[in-house]
Amino acid sequence: MSETIESILDEHRSFKPPQGHQGNIASLQAYHSLCEAFSNDSDATWKDLATEHLNWKSPFSNVLNQQNAPFFRWFEGGTLNLSENCLDRHIDAGLGERNAIIWESEAGEVRHISYSELLANVCRAANAMLTLGIRAGDRVVIYMPMIPEAAITMLACTRIGAIHSVVFGAFSPQALKDRIEDTQARLVITADGGGRRGGVHALKPNVDAALSEGCQSVEHVLIVRHAGNDIEMKAQRDLNWHEALHAESEHCEPLAVDSEHPLFILYTSGSTGKPKGILHSTAGYLLWARLTMLWTFDFKPESDVFWCTADVGWITGHTYSVYGPLACGGTTVMYEGVPTYPDPGRLWKICADHDVTIFYTAPTAIRALIKAGDEWPNQHDLSGLRILGTVGEPINPEAWMWYHNVIGKGRCPIVDTWWQTETGGHMIAPLPYATPTKPGSATLPLPGIDIAVVDEEGQEVSDGGGLLVLRKPWPSMLRGVWGDDQRYIDTYWEKFKGKYYFAGDGARRDEDGYMWIMGRVDDVLNVSGHRLGTMEIESALVSHEAVAEAAVVGRPHDIKGEAVCAFVTLKGDVDDASAQALATQLRAHVTKEIGAIAKPDDIRFSNSLPKTRSGKIMRRLLRDIAAGREITSDTSTLEDQSVVQQLQKSR
Ligand code: PRX
Repeated sequence: MSETIESILDEHRSFKPPQGHQGNIASLQAYHSLCEAFSNDSDATWKDLATEHLNWKSPFSNVLNQQNAPFFRWFEGGTLNLSENCLDRHIDAGLGERNAIIWESEAGEVRHISYSELLANVCRAANAMLTLGIRAGDRVVIYMPMIPEAAITMLACTRIGAIHSVVFGAFSPQALKDRIEDTQARLVITADGGGRRGGVHALKPNVDAALSEGCQSVEHVLIVRHAGNDIEMKAQRDLNWHEALHAESEHCEPLAVDSEHPLFILYTSGSTGKPKGILHSTAGYLLWARLTMLWTFDFKPESDVFWCTADVGWITGHTYSVYGPLACGGTTVMYEGVPTYPDPGRLWKICADHDVTIFYTAPTAIRALIKAGDEWPNQHDLSGLRILGTVGEPINPEAWMWYHNVIGKGRCPIVDTWWQTETGGHMIAPLPYATPTKPGSATLPLPGIDIAVVDEEGQEVSDGGGLLVLRKPWPSMLRGVWGDDQRYIDTYWEKFKGKYYFAGDGARRDEDGYMWIMGRVDDVLNVSGHRLGTMEIESALVSHEAVAEAAVVGRPHDIKGEAVCAFVTLKGDVDDASAQALATQLRAHVTKEIGAIAKPDDIRFSNSLPKTRSGKIMRRLLRDIAAGREITSDTSTLEDQSVVQQLQKSR
């Protein structure tokens, strides 16, 4: 058990919500009555919310169709356009001059983009895509830095019904190629480069490399000139974004699509195989993005400035940097750069400079900033902050308390939000002015969300830990795995025979019904809040010519939560000096295959890996060895007993 989990289990502090605020959900009673409305008549409650919160082109006739479960369909018969809900709707309400996006670059350049300006650019981009022949249902891959054009492109896709798939800018050409091939994208939208740590992170060369073999589906690449670095333009295929948009009108009729029209595909790691393309659809996702902004963040679009630090390459960036705040007609902050550049006060300076009121980040960032020292936040006026959020991994109580005391000065409720790429938006989270919080607990399920902790047989456990499941479908749930229905069933529904959605996390529910997330129960790592499959990294390692076999496990890490530890057996013998050189090569190889986020922290060589007599790698044993812990697993089934000592020495 990691230290984080131990300290979480010992935690008994509780903090009351601040008084004197009129929250969107104003009290615990209000929360309970909304939950009750769902348990009395869930369809009617969803119907009311969807009718009130979304602008429909034509109304839906059916709330939830379960006939083809687990392929659920929500709000059937309805049509709408997502960009219209995020833009035109607010402009029609007289908010055209309000800031939609406040963007800051690492170098300190700032852009304020109003709703009217955003709509004009979204329309130009949508028209440019139409000119290139992109139509509803076509896939568009977006490989961009954190610049407004990333959000513009996403919204432009939704304007014409194209399906976007954003690929995180730090992913390698190989990872990009895999995603382009899986989606069969016709268009890739990228930038020359992005600003990072004072330099330029080039993106276009990665696209060129990805497209150099295969990727036959791609007809065009649209390139935003941003970093000013030299790039090559391939005649016919490559087009300059600015020229393409300049030629287009700033009006583009929003296409009314079906509620279930695919909205985006976002790849995420699982315990087996290559990353899966998680598919989300339009109405349900949009509804939940808006509701969770209003509920979990108590978002008041007229007065709040919301900043979610996640990159648009992740689900958090989709739902809470772009769609959630814009669906509410509020202001979202985007920052392109690293949090510690030029110094560890950067995030707090941005909060102060742009009057951020709600701030949302990951525990790994909080832990890194704690280490930098309190003097950094203390140099900035953080009195405008009113709510602090966290996401992506369990937050250890010490980090929670620092966030509460040093950043929130004891005034700001902390919302620890549990959810996943697959859930589209928050599932478990406190309501800032209603739910008492406990450091390290994501507290209670949101209204409409039916969570349970069960044993392997699916029986609810009353105390102790178990597996986290969702017992009822919810509007923003994934609609499948792109191109692989069977994988969707096998990964999420098979374990409990189609009855429950299996999240892959362990959890415990305490005597107050509060949820304590214990981390993944499968072979998925959570490194700095990023999800990585052990098998994905193992495949990258064995694709190196010197490697015979590899097993990857996580070990606890102070800042990152988990670090990647790879046990590797080689094809031939190597001496110590060559092993060092090879370890460096293997790290570079994984970076090339996947991206720097998957680079192993530890590489340990040994003659063999611990296997049971039936040939299964004993991962629990490897986890103990990686963490330097006493070995707790039963080694009696081990084929070769001497391997344990050898591995322990393999540092
Ligand atoms: O293990 C849980 C962890 O992150 C996983 C989902 O990863 P991903 O799809 O990349 O989405 C991350 C952002 C939503 C979950 O299965 N996780 C996410 N939020 C929390 C968390 N673990 C503990 N506490 C959280 N608040």
